[in-house]
Amino acid sequence: MTEYKIATIPGDGIGPEVLAEAIKILEKVSKLYRHKFTFIEVQAGSVAIDEIGEPLPKETLKVCKDSDSILLGAVGDCKQDALSDHMKPKRALLELRRALGLYANLCPAILHEPLKEICPLRPDIAALGINIMIVRELTGGIYFGDYGRKDTELGFAAWDTELYTTEEVRRIAITAFDIARSRKSRVTNVDKANILESSRLWREVILEVANDYPDVKLDHMYVDNACMQLIKNPSHFDVIVTTNMFGDILSGIVSQITGSIGMLPSAGINNGGVGIYEPIHGSAPDIAGQNKANPIAAILSAAMMLRYSFGLSQEASAIEKAVAEVLSSDARTEDILSEKAYVVGTKEMGRLIWEAVE
Ligand code: IPM
Ligand code: MG
Repeated sequence: MTEYKIATIPGDGIGPEVLAEAIKILEKVSKLYRHKFTFIEVQAGSVAIDEIGEPLPKETLKVCKDSDSILLGAVGDCKQDALSDHMKPKRALLELRRALGLYANLCPAILHEPLKEICPLRPDIAALGINIMIVRELTGGIYFGDYGRKDTELGFAAWDTELYTTEEVRRIAITAFDIARSRKSRVTNVDKANILESSRLWREVILEVANDYPDVKLDHMYVDNACMQLIKNPSHFDVIVTTNMFGDILSGIVSQITGSIGMLPSAGINNGGVGIYEPIHGSAPDIAGQNKANPIAAILSAAMMLRYSFGLSQEASAIEKAVAEVLSSDARTEDILSEKAYVVGTKEMGRLIWEAVE
């Protein structure tokens, strides 16, 4: 029996509720498939600021580094908006990504058949289906570039810098092309090479890496056009590879065209080591503690963890299958409610999926 050490970070708002459901499902998987999952709970985000005095306590980082992977609920709370930049709860995410070298963010966006009726796109477009993997660079670019404020001749000003090294682009390109091979072998590179020098270098490196993948079809889009095509013709896309900031924005679009942000999982990974798995939704303080949040993004994040960090694809598929099965029934959390369906809470949705896992 293999043992896997999983650091869990419930975090803020709806984080603890959705994570609890994901953990119950992992426990069932461990029994059914005979693995040992050991969970070690640590804190980050707003709760960590309140209890320990910093968004990413040293102990949390240490436990995360010593684990086989990390499962996170959500971090963030607007009550800390007035705090200085390095004390904001969201800082925990950036620091974790950086400290663990998690340079690739994978965000699979699937429009599940039963959710087509709540898809905001035109029915004939939704009918063609959506199954996209966004591969977003996660530890570079403008999120981590030089920034500051200064007086200028034109008045007070602030700046942020987009900078990519060829090596940073190369490794994310390799991740994207490798993943494409396990899918439909198509990669769309999204940049702004008509305007930005950093994007021109980005594109050159993508083209270079593409030489090693003659079997993968590559195309390029400027980011504004990619936004348009995601709405107009989303079935065009298979794998999208893009920068940190463009990836953040495109993930926002796909979270809506697939029905609800409550459905989308994500993974922060690198070449092998520890990964961080988290729903792409935030802490949603307005519905926290009310048994209303959709736990599916957290549950699917747990499935991604099994697949990408532990190589347990059969177990991951079992969870994904259970989610699909429950979605084809009429039980829905509020965010994915449709006419003929009925509302269930976080716990009930978790329970139904738990029952369906086999
Ligand atoms: C996300 C979030 C974060 C990001 C913020 C909170 C740092 O929006 O995980 O996408 O932009 O990376
Ligand atoms: Mg985001």
